[in-house]
Amino acid sequence: MPDDEGWWRNAAIAADSDGSSLLAPLLAIGVALLLIGAIAALLTRSEATLTRWLLALHKLLARTLRRPRSDTWAHQSVADAHGISLADYIHAIYGFLRQTRARDVLMIGCGGGTLATMLDSDGINVTVVDIDARSIELARRYFNLPDTVTCHVADGAEFLRRTRTRYDAIVLDAYNGGDFPDVFKKSSYLSSVKAHLTGANAIYLENMLVDDDDDRAPDNRVRLLQQIWPDVRLLDCDGWVDRNAVIAAGAVRGLRKPKLILRPARGAKKLERELDSLCFRRLRS
Ligand SMILES: C[S@@+](CC[C@H](N)C(=O)[O-])C[C@H]1O[C@@H](n2cnc3c(N)ncnc32)[C@H](O)[C@@H]1O
Repeated sequence: MPDDEGWWRNAAIAADSDGSSLLAPLLAIGVALLLIGAIAALLTRSEATLTRWLLALHKLLARTLRRPRSDTWAHQSVADAHGISLADYIHAIYGFLRQTRARDVLMIGCGGGTLATMLDSDGINVTVVDIDARSIELARRYFNLPDTVTCHVADGAEFLRRTRTRYDAIVLDAYNGGDFPDVFKKSSYLSSVKAHLTGANAIYLENMLVDDDDDRAPDNRVRLLQQIWPDVRLLDCDGWVDRNAVIAAGAVRGLRKPKLILRPARGAKKLERELDSLCFRRLRS
């Protein structure tokens, strides 16, 4: 026959050591499980909904667990002490320009002016236009942008509307933080670029920020450029988040994948690997 104390000990299983009831946490767990079940039932109602949610989860995990393609910010200039960029896309653009015979280059977007510094060291005439005077000041003071590079403070599209000068190459790298300014989205801007290129051998290059493989911004941009130029190519690298792609239009048929030509004082091996992983890719629908 159980003694009174034994019965009491059994009954105490439902109570904490301090005497409070376990009923409340058990109830809470029950309600939470019911809620999770209800949400799961809602999300898996149809195959399409389930697929959407799995894709969203995959994207979230990719963003959380994977590093961006480059340690250098996708839209910030980083350079060695001589102003040579540490960003792969700058070396990709530089590599393309070195494959052409461009002598006069217009850069829209100064940032640290690294591309201009690199081209100037090859004796190429570079004109830089930036909407923000501070970019030019900082590039001169901290990034070694040489005095031989002519700089203008103006909106890039407006500058093109006003000037009569034509260039062998025009490069657009003018993100405002992470935003692509509206003025460059218009086809009138692209027509203006074409009118300011010297002729059949001239080239137009653009830097594009890409979120991930599902981001269709570069594909859509190429389609817009194809309304102006018959030949447009997209240099990109699948499988990375927050990466830069380079779009090339004009005399681009003979372009080869760019290699590292100008080695910065540090990070050259990494840049070589990053450039190696870039490829010309087909457009996605
Ligand atoms: C990523 S930085 C350019 C980096 C540069 N290509 C280099 O070699 O280091 C982008 C620059 O574009 C400039 N920018 C933004 N909107 C512009 C516009 N509408 N016209 C001209 N420059 C613009 C910004 O002030 C910033 O300096």
